[in-house]
Amino acid sequence: MIEFWNDRFAEPGFAYGRQPNAFFAERLGAVGVGRVLLPAEGEGRNAVWAASRGWSVTAFDLSHVARDKALEFADGAGVDIDYRLASLTDPWPEGPGVFDVVGLVFVHVPSALRPLIHRAALLACRPGGRVILQGFTPRQLETGRGGPKDPDMLYTADDLREDFAGGEILHLEERLVELTEGRYHQGQSAVVEAEILRPDSSLRE
Ligand SMILES: C[S@@+](CC[C@H](N)C(=O)[O-])C[C@H]1O[C@@H](n2cnc3c(N)ncnc32)[C@H](O)[C@@H]1O
Repeated sequence: MIEFWNDRFAEPGFAYGRQPNAFFAERLGAVGVGRVLLPAEGEGRNAVWAASRGWSVTAFDLSHVARDKALEFADGAGVDIDYRLASLTDPWPEGPGVFDVVGLVFVHVPSALRPLIHRAALLACRPGGRVILQGFTPRQLETGRGGPKDPDMLYTADDLREDFAGGEILHLEERLVELTEGRYHQGQSAVVEAEILRPDSSLRE
């Protein structure tokens, strides 16, 4: 797994481009700046964009190649990001209840792990904070385009409704969108988009 990602990110250029994911950028741009956490952030396109707009950015990924590229990218863009080398299954940075936004952009794990990762994302938000997510649905396999080829790594709006139980769903939609993200995310793609609020009331940690 680590070798797969290190090899991909060792290729020339940016696998998913230098521009942020459009859904993430649109939704993040609609809330006031604060602290954002970007798990599995790859080469840093979302992190650098958020930092350049005044967000305090913490990111992590298991690929050291991705991390090195992201830090160089941030340096070139004249912004600071806190980018750690860590797995989604490690304890998440800063502990629970800290971030205004957690951005999950094409974060795909086996289905047995997925609810735990999504729960961790919601708990990493401060009360009143939110998760902004875009990922591929199983319909993406029909397009033959980017994303995991293993159906077990893909998810639907119904999956997210269950994973984020206890959160307040502000937006949840499966859509076909035109992706223009580097070499690997191109063309009409089947995604699910979500924005989920961590309520003020207590959510068990
Ligand atoms: C499709 S890329 C998306 C990268 C980034 N979120 C973006 O949108 O550009 C998936 C990322 O997940 C990372 N990843 C996969 N499994 C992981 C794990 N268990 N822990 C941390 N990162 C992981 C990979 O290294 C890769 O950077």
